Amino acid sequence: MKQLIDKLAQQHLLTKEEYTCLIDGFDHDLSEYLFEKAREVRHRIYGRDVFIRGLIEFTNYCKNDCLYCGIRRSNRSAERYRLSMEEILQCCKQGYELGFRTFVLQGGEDPYFTDDRIVELIRAIKSQYPDCALTLSIGEKEHESYLAYFQAGADRYLLRHETADPLHYAQLHPDDLSWQHRVNCLYDLKSIGYQTGCGFMVGSPGQTASMLAQGLLFLRQLQPHMVGIGPFIPQHDTPFRNEKSGTMELTLFMLGLIRLTIPHVLLPSTTALGTIHPLGREKGILAGANVVMPNLSPVSVRKKYLLYDNKICTGDEAAECRFCMQSRMQSIGYQVVTDRGDCKQPE
Ligand code: SAM
Ligand code: FES
Repeated sequence: MKQLIDKLAQQHLLTKEEYTCLIDGFDHDLSEYLFEKAREVRHRIYGRDVFIRGLIEFTNYCKNDCLYCGIRRSNRSAERYRLSMEEILQCCKQGYELGFRTFVLQGGEDPYFTDDRIVELIRAIKSQYPDCALTLSIGEKEHESYLAYFQAGADRYLLRHETADPLHYAQLHPDDLSWQHRVNCLYDLKSIGYQTGCGFMVGSPGQTASMLAQGLLFLRQLQPHMVGIGPFIPQHDTPFRNEKSGTMELTLFMLGLIRLTIPHVLLPSTTALGTIHPLGREKGILAGANVVMPNLSPVSVRKKYLLYDNKICTGDEAAECRFCMQSRMQSIGYQVVTDRGDCKQPE
């Protein structure tokens, strides 16, 4: 098995069978071996810098009904909110003062935020903070919409593909959503010129090792600039309430494999990882990740953006999250930097 990791470290690619064999059979020792190789690559390209992104969860209204998601349309218990332009700009102001140079606007697919409103928002943020990168994570849109946002100044777009297997996608989503459409969106985003991020949940219901292996081949094909992964965690008001969470061990192992498969990728150590283990985010960095995304949303709405149960940091002010992250990273020998944190080898 270690030879397979050596091969991956040299060639950045394995066959589907080889990836499956690793994912099916990994243990603690093999993980440590993988993480060491992944860190070597990460240090060579990004040193010990950790990029921070200020996450602004600006609406939890969503017209979609993804089966795993706590803010899905059918969840009548979700208390809905949307932030005003002023509130969003206030988050950016506070974030800028705290050293953030990337803002991520994330939300459900909320029809209130028409293209005109999104464009207005992008223009306002980019004119006040021209030295900052702006990332959008607002779901599937038409080509013209993605183009309009890009022309207004958005730099990056995150759209997790959730799984590389169309049939598995159909198990996780209602019939009106298709894997092909989501993937087309990703290629669209890349062609427009966005730094594009895809990603998936680890341990989602029905997922197999071979699907995860397929996922790594999918990444090689798409060549995204960013890949967001985190464990699936059940949310009590969704149809998946009784499903098991993804494990930290497998999520970390996948982070290591992704770092070796696309060495330059921007790879967040996610809040979901920090939710299933108190040191999850630190361990993610030590497995090859190089980005963290502290929350900049106002504390008053944090508890309402509950994608999954027991989400961490919902009571903390932005500054607390920022400095907590800094000391967590310092404790493992890494440093948070004030930087846009662009991909070192944009496609
Ligand atoms: N609406 C946008 C979209 O579809 O890309 C962005 C918001 S969506 C809530 C962001 C991500 O949260 C999803 O892509 C999904 O991977 C993750 N997520 C949702 N529910 C989750 C759960 N129960 N456990 C872990 N991650 C979850
Ligand atoms: Fe739309 Fe989760 S179902 S954000």
